[in-house]
Amino acid sequence: MKKEKILVTAALPYANGRIHLGHIAGAYLPADIFVRYHRSKGNDIVFICGSDEHGVPITITADKEGVTPKVIIDRFHNDNKSAFERLGMSFDIYSRTSIPEHHETAKEFFLNFYERGILKEKKSSQFFDEKANMFLPDRYVEGTCPKCGNEGARSDECENCGALYDPSELKSPISKISGNKPILKETSHWYFPLGDYQDRLQQYVKEHDEKFDWKENVLQYCKGWFHDGLTDRAVTRDLDWGIPVPTDDGKGKVLYVWFEAVLGYVSATKVLSEQRNQPDLWKEYWQEEDTRYIAFIGKDNVVFHCIVFPSMLMAWNDANKKHYILPENVPANEFLNFEGKKFSKSRNWGIDVIDFLDRFPADSLRYALTSNLPEDRDSDFKWNEFQARNNNELADILGNFINRTLTFVFKHFEGKVPPLYELSDADNELLNLLEKSPSLIGSYIEKYEMKKALLEMMNIAREANKYFDKSEPWKSVKTDKERCATTLNICLQTIFTVSELFTPIIPFTSEKIFQILNAKPVSWDNAGKINLQEGHELNKPEILFRKIEDEVIQKMVQGLGQPLDMPAAEPEELISFDEFLKVKLVTARILEAQKVPKSDKLLQLKVDTGNGVRQIIAGIGKHFAPESLIGKQVLVVGNLKPAKLMGLESQGMILALEDENGALSLLDIKETIKPGTRAK
Ligand code: MF3
Ligand code: ZN
Repeated sequence: MKKEKILVTAALPYANGRIHLGHIAGAYLPADIFVRYHRSKGNDIVFICGSDEHGVPITITADKEGVTPKVIIDRFHNDNKSAFERLGMSFDIYSRTSIPEHHETAKEFFLNFYERGILKEKKSSQFFDEKANMFLPDRYVEGTCPKCGNEGARSDECENCGALYDPSELKSPISKISGNKPILKETSHWYFPLGDYQDRLQQYVKEHDEKFDWKENVLQYCKGWFHDGLTDRAVTRDLDWGIPVPTDDGKGKVLYVWFEAVLGYVSATKVLSEQRNQPDLWKEYWQEEDTRYIAFIGKDNVVFHCIVFPSMLMAWNDANKKHYILPENVPANEFLNFEGKKFSKSRNWGIDVIDFLDRFPADSLRYALTSNLPEDRDSDFKWNEFQARNNNELADILGNFINRTLTFVFKHFEGKVPPLYELSDADNELLNLLEKSPSLIGSYIEKYEMKKALLEMMNIAREANKYFDKSEPWKSVKTDKERCATTLNICLQTIFTVSELFTPIIPFTSEKIFQILNAKPVSWDNAGKINLQEGHELNKPEILFRKIEDEVIQKMVQGLGQPLDMPAAEPEELISFDEFLKVKLVTARILEAQKVPKSDKLLQLKVDTGNGVRQIIAGIGKHFAPESLIGKQVLVVGNLKPAKLMGLESQGMILALEDENGALSLLDIKETIKPGTRAK
């Protein structure tokens, strides 16, 4: 099959704060799943992201902290870059919009439109803070929306109802700088005539929906905009942080952040080309008709990606030989809420990615978020659901299947892939499921239905557990070794398939599984075949998923709405010396040792503790032969409350050390130390 060429962009987050789980569920995780899938298919794909470093959100944060915008963007660019890395976002580049390459690209577009007379210069009244002596664009002013009454509306736009209005219509405006009521003052700006492109935009959306089946929510937003009618949009602002307007008559003004931010995708691809020493590479992705371009975003960005950006590219294409391609699809997700409410930094509601990953593994988060993506409507992150997904699904279903298979193979087949003999109906059934899964799961991913894709992935693990149970290899290992070998061979093939198909969701674990399998991924389309040969040697299994305790989750729930300054790791509880002395650690000599009948774990010991002989029942039977213990001197807890184990009283506890492979050693105490010597 011919390789597809695909360009994937994910919205550039503002470098004015840390990204949180809502951002991840909106755009980045679906994008990464899509990209990892296509890489596994062998397609030629680039994945572009970076920081959006201009605009009022950044300057407001800087003003609040009393630092320059540069301080803010450097801090959050680095924070977010590393958060994304830790989460396994596999961007080919994480660029930023403050770099010269980006400024050049944005200026090139502006100048092109300016010189062609596309932009209109218009005078208008804008809010102005007399005390701070500055204009107040966008979020610098808050007031009440004239259409819906939302109190958090911006100077000329309401996020709540999507209305656009003239600043003079906003009710009760307040300056975010001084808290004063701003005045209206005349200024002039350049406007992009969106209305001139309405027909073509409608055509574009219609055709692409017909061909590529756009998401219903995205179509609805577009419809609303078209219905209201597109009008001129200012593409300059009276600010001093941003990309300077590159014309003599534009001195003191900057480009509107959305006009240039969307071009950040292009400039980032240019930088990537330089990094790869192929300066023209970006053109292959942006300017060749056979490239598919998919733009992943959250719902608040729909208008900019389905209307503003395409119209800018259309305007460019009208007069330039080299045409930019337009997005084939803009699969925007709705929002993820947090325990029933919107994420809010100021109210400490929610958790950012770095704080999350300081406490829990990336794959657990990726898995839980994928199963709960706001694909069609808003969804809600709940701590106890996160725990349940991790414990009941990742650990108990997927982890358990892999673990029981590998443990069995190490116990009965020397850690090597056993041969495949004659196949039963159940064997064929599971093998068929493996065979058809790549294309089934792939078809969901290609439709941006990641939740359904995940269900099918997990379905393999569920079926595999059932297969293991039904096949009862622990019986056939005694009665029919060939049958048993066949079962375990198929279980191992299943692990291979599952590992490859789960890569887009849990890439870190997938890599670990491949290490254990001592194998490399093949490719998506071949993942369901027989990929492990008879006799192939495996590596020792390790624990893939750890369960999350109730107390840990309770802490997270209790911490909601409070500053998240609790230390990441549980602080170790300290005890006083007196408390330590309560534990009597004494040496004891083992006099007798024998197995407890019907138990392979427990040993019945008689030990001399200096002041008498007592009985200890110890769970060390799998590690030591009873006779090897006789005469040894060990350390025991001498004042433990007696307990009954399998009907026998145990009057103490032996201390032992467990290494990372689970092997035990006892503390060997010199002959010359008398029994009953206290350790302190
Ligand atoms: N910074 C914007 C946000 O976080 C998204 C910008 S997307 C881009 O909502 F296309 F403009 F880069
Ligand atoms: Zn409104």
